[in-house]
Amino acid sequence: MKLWSRSSSSSGRYKAAAIAGASGLVAAGLIGLPAGMAHAATQCDVAYTTNQWPGGFTANITIRNLGDPINGWTLGFTFANSSQRVQQGWSATWTQTGSQVAAQNMSYNGSLATGASTSIGFNGEWSGSNPAPTSFTINGVSCNGGTNPTTPPPTSTPPPTTTPPPVGDRVDNPYVGARGYVNPEWKAKADAEPGGSRISNNPTGVWLDRIAAINGVNGGRGLRGHLDTALAQGAGYIQFVIYNLPGRDCAALASNGELGPTELPRYKTEYIDPIAAIMADPKYRNLRIINIIEIDSLPNLVTNVTPRPTATPMCDTMKANGNYVNGVGYALAKLGALPNTYNYIDAGHHGWIGWDDNFGASATLFAQAARASGSTVDNVHGFIANTANYGILKESYYTIDSTVNGTSVRQSKWVDWNRYVDEQSFALAFRQQLIAAGFNSNVGMLIDTGRNGWGGAARPTGPGPQTNVDTFVDGGRLDRRIHLGNWCNQSGAGIGERPTAAPAPGIDAYVWIKPPGESDGASREIPNDEGKGFDRMCDPTYPGNPRNNNNMSGALGDAPLSGHWFSAQFQELLRNAYPPL
Ligand code: BGC
Repeated sequence: MKLWSRSSSSSGRYKAAAIAGASGLVAAGLIGLPAGMAHAATQCDVAYTTNQWPGGFTANITIRNLGDPINGWTLGFTFANSSQRVQQGWSATWTQTGSQVAAQNMSYNGSLATGASTSIGFNGEWSGSNPAPTSFTINGVSCNGGTNPTTPPPTSTPPPTTTPPPVGDRVDNPYVGARGYVNPEWKAKADAEPGGSRISNNPTGVWLDRIAAINGVNGGRGLRGHLDTALAQGAGYIQFVIYNLPGRDCAALASNGELGPTELPRYKTEYIDPIAAIMADPKYRNLRIINIIEIDSLPNLVTNVTPRPTATPMCDTMKANGNYVNGVGYALAKLGALPNTYNYIDAGHHGWIGWDDNFGASATLFAQAARASGSTVDNVHGFIANTANYGILKESYYTIDSTVNGTSVRQSKWVDWNRYVDEQSFALAFRQQLIAAGFNSNVGMLIDTGRNGWGGAARPTGPGPQTNVDTFVDGGRLDRRIHLGNWCNQSGAGIGERPTAAPAPGIDAYVWIKPPGESDGASREIPNDEGKGFDRMCDPTYPGNPRNNNNMSGALGDAPLSGHWFSAQFQELLRNAYPPL
């Protein structure tokens, strides 16, 4: 999925228009440069197209270099209407000052040979009117050679009818050029918190965490309700978490589920089949339906089984009976049979799968699951790292190759011989391992950045002292957890990168799958009918177990059951957001 850049703007327009369904192509500007203008070295052609809906729009921009080869570019343009704002961009670094917008190349798309083009884009907001910019510059030199851009039609013009994409026409990266579904139920909870509206318009995952969730629990929407609301929003993609395996959460207690270890038949007929039947409704054909498959399940079968010291009886059972592998295979096959679904398998995170013993073995097991129950690897669009976890996206002040007085940081207590220090480096390396294990070469990675910001006053501003590897790593690491294995309601965490499409080659998107503000687990025993147990990793007084090397849990106190709203955590996530809000 990494190939978000399109070879021709016409195919780009086709895809964008087709996927947007209800909106279509509403504005187009094409600016050519005549030969012989003053700045002969820089000649360019910029195509700017949008899909818009009330209040929002997606812009796709193709820059074509008609002059000498360019090494590094900045695109500039000015919005005509002061309400027009860039919200999230991709394939460039976007900044906006007043109405002036600049997009600077990423490291991988800065070189443009003569005649070469590159595509970038952004999601934006507007009110009143949303005209296309009338001129563009590259490196400060105008691309506007006098050709007037096509005047966009008035925004009240009904969108053109679009043809649904042909069956099987999956796009390479479902996040590019599409607006994400904003779950109104999560948004309402976020908006009810002071300052919550600063993040409440972001797409978050919808967790189908029990059979009853298909029809809706506690008065909330079911699967159809979310899909219908996504259509009403004009969303291009929607993200679901498929999370109800038999014997779920075998190494912990906080998210145990409703199905016992042998209930694979119920998983198939009462859970996956009805979900697939609803998603198959032709009215959802133009929505890109992203399914995140079974958090933590397969990684648990690698690391928390006999003879590891971290083994649990339930993980041993689920490995022996094959119901995780067969359940995942079944979900992949059923959901992957639909033309507009995108399956991403959960791949744990660097503080779990990043050790040599776990890395290759996990990729091998994932490939086995992808071929179980009649599935093939073609049903796997990609993988997700860091779901509901807190691993930092990128460390700033050390890498895995850093040394102190000749000693590798891998020998520090924090890194503890892991091969990775952050999620981005892990995700990119694991992608290669997965391809080597038999997955398609265009699989894409997602990283859950909802709660891995680690900003606020405690964030280091430089490397740690070079006394030894521990002072160096502990003084400079942005991830402030007590131990890398801590996972429940982590004290000090903040909102991370906002959802972003195609932030780097190989990464389809930064996403918020665990909705910020929803608890990871109760900090004490709370009776419930959701099958959830009490995991002491959610108790701030717990001194730990072998999975976190017997460290304190680092959890916030007074937490409700997993999935329930945790106002105090939400407030802290806002305070410690990084990038700051
Ligand atoms: C819980 C689910 C919940 C999800 C999202 C999981 O840990 O077990 O019930 O929907 O988190 O908050």
